[in-house]
Amino acid sequence: MKILIADDEPMQRELLAGFLLKQGYAVSTAADGEEALVLFQREHPQLALIDHRMPGLMGDALLVEIKARNPLARVIMITAYGEVGTAVTVMKAGADDFLEKPIDLTQLLEKIQQIEQDLDIADDVAEVAETLAAGPLPMEIIGSSPSMQETLSVARRVADSPWSVLIQGETGTGKELIARLIHLLGPTPDAPFVEVNCAAIPENLFESELFGHEKGAFTGADRQRRGRFELARGGTLFLDEVGELPPLLQSKLLRALQEKRIHRVGGERDIAVDTRVIAATNRDLRAMAETGAFREDLFFRLNVLDVELPPLRRRREDIPELVAHFLKRYARRPTRVGLETMDLLVRHDYPGNVRELEHIIQRSLTLARGTVLQPKDLPEEVRQGPQVHQGALQERLDAMEREMLSAALAQVDWVQTQAAERLGISERVLRYKMGKHGLQRPKD
Ligand SMILES: Nc1ncnc2c1ncn2[C@@H]1O[C@H](COP(=O)(O)OP(=O)(O)OP(=O)(O)O)[C@@H](O)[C@H]1O
Ligand SMILES: [Mg+2]
Repeated sequence: MKILIADDEPMQRELLAGFLLKQGYAVSTAADGEEALVLFQREHPQLALIDHRMPGLMGDALLVEIKARNPLARVIMITAYGEVGTAVTVMKAGADDFLEKPIDLTQLLEKIQQIEQDLDIADDVAEVAETLAAGPLPMEIIGSSPSMQETLSVARRVADSPWSVLIQGETGTGKELIARLIHLLGPTPDAPFVEVNCAAIPENLFESELFGHEKGAFTGADRQRRGRFELARGGTLFLDEVGELPPLLQSKLLRALQEKRIHRVGGERDIAVDTRVIAATNRDLRAMAETGAFREDLFFRLNVLDVELPPLRRRREDIPELVAHFLKRYARRPTRVGLETMDLLVRHDYPGNVRELEHIIQRSLTLARGTVLQPKDLPEEVRQGPQVHQGALQERLDAMEREMLSAALAQVDWVQTQAAERLGISERVLRYKMGKHGLQRPKD
C-alpha cells in the first residue's frame, strides 16, 4: 500500500516515514498541503496521513481536495491532543479516522492494517454487488462503514442457504438484529422466527424447552407441549448465547442437527424438523472448542457459515448515523446533538457497543432540558473522553522516544554526533537515552 504523509514538522514526518517504511509500506512525504496535493496526483496513494494544522493549505482543505480527486482514498487526520471538536469536524469533513498527538505507533499500525483489510473488502463487496441484486434491506439497519457493508453482504449471501449460521460479535453489536435479517432475507420470511436464549433457561428445563415433552413425562408435565425446535418448523430457530449451552444439551442439539429429527421428552417417536438454525455468541467459540469447553463437533455443525459483527469502536463512522437513528426513535420532540456532544460520542469506546450507544441516547434525552443534547447530558464516562492513564501515557511517550532515537540513528548510520544534532540533544543525553532504551548499532 502507498501512503502519503503531510506534516510541516520534519521530525514528526521522518519518524512516521521511517516507521512505515520499516513496516514495508511505500511512503512519500510532503512538508505542506500544496506539495502533498502534487504528490497525491502523481503517486495515487491509497492512504494519506495529514497533520490537521499546517501552514498554507490547511489539513481540512487538503482533505477536501484529496477526496474530491479520489473519494476512495483513505485519510487519517492527525489532530492536536485534547482539542475539543476537531475529531468530529475532521470526520464530518470526510476523514476516515483521526489520531491524536503524540501518535501511538502501535495504534497507527492497527488503523492502517484495518484500512488495508477494508480496501480488500471494498473490492470484494464491489464484486459481490455486481452479481447480487442488492435491494433495500427488509429492516432498518445502520451500517455504511466498510466493515458493516461486508457483514451485510455476507448476511445476504448466507440467507438463502439451508446451512447453520454462527454469528459472532461482542455484546450489543447487533447479533440478534442480523439473525432476524438473515431470516427475513431467506426463502421463508413469513415462517416463524423462534428465539432461545441459552443463558436464560434453567438447565433442568432446557431439554423440554427445546424439544418439548409429552404429557406425564415428568412431574408437572400435565399436558403435552411442543418445544421451540418444533415451533420453528419451516422457519428459523435462533439459539442466542449458544456458548452457554450445558454439555448434555450440546450433545442432544448436535444429534438433532445431524439427524434433522427430534423427540419430545418422554416421547416415543421421532419428529422430523426442517428448521434452519442460526446461533449467536459473544464468546470465542472456536477457542472454547479447542480447550474442550464446547463440543468441537457441535461447533463445526453450527459454524458452517459464519458472520462476524465488528465492534462499534472499529466502525466509528457509523456513530453519527446511529445517533440520528436513535434520536428519531426515542426523542419526543425534534432534538439535535451539539458539535461538542457528537465529538464526545464519536470518541467514546463503547464496550457495550450499539446497545450502549442506544442507552446513552435514551438516557441523555431524559436528562436534556432543551432540544439540543449537551455534553452535560452525557454519562460521566463519555463526557470525560478517552482516558489516558498515567502509565499508558508514559508508555506511549517512551515508545515514541525510542522510535525517534532509532530512526535518527539509522539515518546517519549510527554516527552519534550527527544523530544528537538532528535530535537537538547533547551527545551525553543521547548516550544516556540509548542506554535506557537498550539501543545498539545493529550488527550486519
Ligand atoms: N446496525 C444497527 N442499526 C440499528 N440498530 C442497531 C444496529 N445494531 C444494533 N442495533 C440495536 O442495538 C441493540 C442491540 O442489538 P442486539 O440485541 O442485536 O445485539 P446483540 O449482539 O444481540 O447483543 P447481546 O450480545 O448483548 O445479546 C438493539 O436495540 C438493536 O436494535
Ligand atoms: Mg443478543
